[in-house]
Amino acid sequence: MIRTQVAIVGAGPAGLMLAHLLHRAGVGCIVLESQARGYIEGRVRAGVLEQGTVDLMKASGVGERLGREGLVHHGIELRFDGRAHRIDLAHLTGGRSITVYGQHEVIKDLVQARLAAGGELRFECSDVAVHDLDTRHPRVTFTHDSQRREIACDAVAGCDGSHGICRPAIPRSGLAIHERAYPFAWLGILARAAPSRQELVYAHHERGFALFSMRSPQLTRLYLQVAPDEQPTAWPDERIWDELDARFEGGDGWRPARGPIVEKSVTGMRSLVVEPMRHGRLFLAGDAAHIVPPTGAKGLNLAMADVRVLAPALASFCATGDEQALDAYSATCLKRVWRAEHFSWWMTALLHRFPEGDSFQRRLQHAQLEYVVSSPAAGASLAENYVGLPFDSATA
Ligand code: APR
Ligand code: PHB
Repeated sequence: MIRTQVAIVGAGPAGLMLAHLLHRAGVGCIVLESQARGYIEGRVRAGVLEQGTVDLMKASGVGERLGREGLVHHGIELRFDGRAHRIDLAHLTGGRSITVYGQHEVIKDLVQARLAAGGELRFECSDVAVHDLDTRHPRVTFTHDSQRREIACDAVAGCDGSHGICRPAIPRSGLAIHERAYPFAWLGILARAAPSRQELVYAHHERGFALFSMRSPQLTRLYLQVAPDEQPTAWPDERIWDELDARFEGGDGWRPARGPIVEKSVTGMRSLVVEPMRHGRLFLAGDAAHIVPPTGAKGLNLAMADVRVLAPALASFCATGDEQALDAYSATCLKRVWRAEHFSWWMTALLHRFPEGDSFQRRLQHAQLEYVVSSPAAGASLAENYVGLPFDSATA
């Protein structure tokens, strides 16, 4: 039997940042991850960090490479009806910005910090299961190096993403699930090409949504709206580039620079929130508790915002036995979660082509797009949500 204060299931941004913050607060924890280190450090995910996420990484000592390599953006572009419009994020939000830095780079920095601190982080764990969550002595069992093991702890953090085992371990009567499915998916590609524009470009086109993003001065990241059941093999490289050119048409001749495509995958889109984000001594954080469609790039940032609240609450519980902050955890996080859920849903509905949409819906989309690019109030609403509400505000 292994003994620790907090057992963390999952080494994504939520689990790793939680472990890092707990370590700094002097709380012992063990992180269990089902995948290999190389896999989680190489998996391409989203890559837009809100100011609050950047501040958290820097303030907790894991922002050094981010400070050097992260690309700070002060605006984004919206394209529709063959025209391009810049949304000046910094101007509209009193100087706030976003930083483009791949999620797997965040993972690499956090894994390194954990190992450098001598913290326990076990990769390739299988059959992870949580037990006795309703008691003061929860347990986690797992198999590692072919050996069945057991952890006794004071609390379990379910940071195992949207397909993990922690959320399903909560009795269905103990939680409410709020869900929305979307009738489309994103085909994402990574191309070895220098980004041909300095800021992100979101396009609404009658052929569907498209997004131009980047990972580094050598790598362009691009997305196309496709059918939910689309196979990447249906999209040879030439078809992807031609479709991108059509959807980004903006009257200025700009198009994404082409290069060898080094990654191609289809991601489904859905919204989901679990309430409360707690069951007994199990605390859910990140994608285990809530999922957003990727349109506003909120997933990673919400995961960070959760553990920023959970870490001090666990630390005060472990130090004094005081459960007050833990009792407030779910409600505190859900305020911010629902704001981000609304924004992600709104931006998704604004920019995508709905297969069942009629002319009324399309006219509404256009009216809203025109409003966002012409009214400073509407632009500011998009901008403050996009850069992320400050952590200290009422939404935690
Ligand atoms: N046991 C151990 N680890 C598990 C298990 C399990 N049964 N199931 C899943 N995991 C691991 C996954 O392999 C993954 O590394 O949990 C981790 C969860 O990480 P993420 O999916 O990245 O979730 P989270 O940390 O909440 O971060 C949310 O990730 O999916 C993106 O868009 C999402 O940006 C958002 C961010
Ligand atoms: C990305 O770069 O992966 C990205 C950027 C912006 C989004 C979503 C994803 O809205």
